[in-house]
Amino acid sequence: MTDENTKSRVDTSTMWGGRFNVGPDAVMEAINASIGFDKRLYAQDIQGSKAHASMLAACDIISVEDEVKIQQGLDTILAEIEVGEFTFTTALEDIHMNVESRLAELIGDAAGRLHTARSRNDQVATDLRLWVRDAIDGLDAETQRLQAAMIDMAEQHAATIMPGFTHMQAAQPVTFGHHLLAYVEMLGRDRGRLADCRKRANESPLGAAALAGTSFNIDREMTSRSLGFDRPSANSMDAVSDRDFVLELLAAASISGIHLSRLAEEIVIWASAQFDFVRLSDGFSTGSSIMPQKRNPDAAELVRGKVGRIIGALNTLMVVMKGLPMTYGKDMQEDKEPVFDAVDTLGLCLAAMRGMMEGAVANEDSMRAAVDSGFITATDLADWLVRVLDLPFRSAHHVTGELVKLAEEKNIGLEELTISDMQSVEPAITADVFSVLGVENSVASRTSHGGTAPENVKAAAIAARKRFL
Ligand code: ARG
Repeated sequence: MTDENTKSRVDTSTMWGGRFNVGPDAVMEAINASIGFDKRLYAQDIQGSKAHASMLAACDIISVEDEVKIQQGLDTILAEIEVGEFTFTTALEDIHMNVESRLAELIGDAAGRLHTARSRNDQVATDLRLWVRDAIDGLDAETQRLQAAMIDMAEQHAATIMPGFTHMQAAQPVTFGHHLLAYVEMLGRDRGRLADCRKRANESPLGAAALAGTSFNIDREMTSRSLGFDRPSANSMDAVSDRDFVLELLAAASISGIHLSRLAEEIVIWASAQFDFVRLSDGFSTGSSIMPQKRNPDAAELVRGKVGRIIGALNTLMVVMKGLPMTYGKDMQEDKEPVFDAVDTLGLCLAAMRGMMEGAVANEDSMRAAVDSGFITATDLADWLVRVLDLPFRSAHHVTGELVKLAEEKNIGLEELTISDMQSVEPAITADVFSVLGVENSVASRTSHGGTAPENVKAAAIAARKRFL
């Protein structure tokens, strides 16, 4: 519940208004307040405050009695928020002051000692790093679940032949399993980027105070350790002023989103009546209210569309940060909505993609029919001319082009040309050439490392399971 009174019900002077005579204008309050969205940081804020209070007592900066009251008060507040019994107040601006003000109501004067040797600047940076860390762990797990679904499907289709495309033109036959495992690799790198940014994000700003550090004899190692950070940040000004850890997450999320959007685009294509390569489950298709024949791939289209928001969030925060002088500026309060939205959106897209993959059925006949139309084994023919007749590849390419033209004129496939048709273009060709013109042969011959041969794909699926799951 948020207090919507335009006139401040709360006397903000208890927080920072000592030298002000009147409370903020209603519009000032509206532009200043972040509680509407940063309430989402409540658990991290309380966790950070509890660690700070323990440290203050351990360093004899506050009494143990006050610390106990603070800890109990913070636990009460956490419980109140979790059961929905906490009143969030706009006039108290943000999560930090909402919690602290409630703490004062609960425990009186001791509450005022919690903010010793701390500022909202290091507090918010700490909260957000804790949140980003959890967000990364959640996205990693969801990405891994998508990989698992795709590896299962790839294994099942290690020998299912489909056209591989370049320029959206059928290029060479591949297996559907090989195509799916390409995405498993991309998702693996997405997870690598998340892990990488987690390492740099995992430093504790707590104790940097407003920007300069503090004159109190605090123990930053202690709070860093108890919050699970790898170390306290080395420079107090850097600690409160940079949001590169959020930018890195948004960049990693954007790249991951781009991968999901490409897969979504392929699903849209594959699910069309013209391709008919996959049939999505009823649970992940929608009907048209007017055209009964349709099964629309709305979830895939929405993934493709929603990724725009993730990239937009990255752009938003880059623009917010680019002109900021050291150290903290209130502009940086604008970091939260984009990162919350981007993380929610990516999580939803990953889950939707997994749902689609788990229920999708590949239509092997349509894939096969698409392979058989066109001259998809032309490269195999050129390779045969090089390997068996020792033609330079460029001449082989030319001969093959002539043969494709001939087949096109006759309106038949390459494998349907007669040996004399072949020899009319290149007299040295023998009947052995037909052995490479079948798509099964073509696919089976691609045994080079990372190639599409079914035996490779089977092994690659097993290896992927070991590497990623
Ligand atoms: N709500 C603020 C934010 O999100 C907290 C830090 C405010 N610090 C300050 N000096 N006003 O950035």
